[in-house]
Amino acid sequence: MTATTASSKSKDTRGLAGQTVGDTQICSVNQTSLIYRGYEIADLAAHATFEEVAFLLIEGHKPSATELKAFTAEVVSMRSIPDGLKTLLRDIARAEVGSHPMAILRTGVSYLSHFDEEVEDNGLDAERRKAKRLLAKIPTIIGYGQMVRDGKTPVDPDPTLNHASNLLWCMTGKKPTDLVARTMDVSLILYAEHDFNASTFTGRVIASTMSDLHSAVCGAIGALKGELHGGANEMAMEMLKDVDAFVSAGGTVRQYMDRAFETKQKLMGFGHRVYKNGDHRAGILRGWGLKIAEAQGPDSKKWFDLGDAVQKIMLDDKQIHPNVDFPCGMTYFVMGIPVPQYTPIFVASRITGWCAHVTEQHQNNRIIRPLAEYTGPELKAWNG
Ligand code: SDX
Repeated sequence: MTATTASSKSKDTRGLAGQTVGDTQICSVNQTSLIYRGYEIADLAAHATFEEVAFLLIEGHKPSATELKAFTAEVVSMRSIPDGLKTLLRDIARAEVGSHPMAILRTGVSYLSHFDEEVEDNGLDAERRKAKRLLAKIPTIIGYGQMVRDGKTPVDPDPTLNHASNLLWCMTGKKPTDLVARTMDVSLILYAEHDFNASTFTGRVIASTMSDLHSAVCGAIGALKGELHGGANEMAMEMLKDVDAFVSAGGTVRQYMDRAFETKQKLMGFGHRVYKNGDHRAGILRGWGLKIAEAQGPDSKKWFDLGDAVQKIMLDDKQIHPNVDFPCGMTYFVMGIPVPQYTPIFVASRITGWCAHVTEQHQNNRIIRPLAEYTGPELKAWNG
């Protein structure tokens, strides 16, 4: 961080820090609460399913039992992907370069745009239908790509499984236990929406030019791919593996952290632009992951012990709290999910929030175009 005085630091608006740049009826993110369309996140995580939250975000209200049944059946019926996309995924998922799972997912969504008859229709009903098609097909793309990476034969989506369980089935070819399935369901609820985060705001900027939903989602996937945003959950698990190796070689977590501080290492899964007293989602996800780890035994529990030790030092020494990505890494790891799919899973959830914001932008639009302060060379003549 560049040297900033205390007073100028508080006014450090780089990256639009602290700037309110619009309003939304979808979500409220602040120090005291995280709310999706009026419902608090802990309430949703405890009492809702991801399907209900997806409906809430896309359709705009809590579903009735009849609405939920119809929505769920419709999304299940749309899980298949075109054969041409399967061929493309087989070509790119194991390529030497360019096979980052988020790049594959970005390409997959872009491919789908060429076969969606309503792709250029920015109307409310058409966008809600497109949102359901993307919600349905993204897990299939993720799973197909992962199975190809693993050299396995991809499985077809299973219509008897709910959204979370089908995602796990498509990625691993294994049916999850009830506890693993519910933990995935809760993680999808927690990741679904977060007001004007970088990827959602990217999607809104693209939508504000009256470009289409698929283009906005491709841009949002590109933004989420970055390690400072969605990519942090994978990096957090890789960091914990580093800590484990360091401790196994005779070191201590304290020594690992001291070295990280000395080298000014960015510790993935910690810090947040908005949450300075803790991320409302982190403790909820950690609780579910810990249940799985404790049921599995010491080899799994150790990741949470290491995580707790890292977290304590970050808080004691730097007053920096974990964000949702920190417990996500160890939770998905003990669930047996391949690390490169952690951020694509984030997409499988956040597609609901992204589509809600693109639709909201299109329904009440003005092109997003902020100002810049010029700090370049003084005016001079070209032939001067
Ligand atoms: C997500 O915005 C959202 O809502 C995002 C998200 C969502 O649901 O959409 O919540 C999901 O992206 C969560 C964040 C995942 N990213 C990471 O875990 C990456 C590591 N975190 C940092 O890069 C950072 O904390 C950010 C990117 C999350 C926030 O960036 P800020 O607001 O610019 O950071 P800050 O002002 O709070 O930090 C001030 C200083 C830093 O100065 P710089 O080096 O950035 O100039 O505090 C230190 C650092 O000195 N610091 C860290 C740190 N986070 C802050 N030092 C080490 N490790 C960290 N993780």
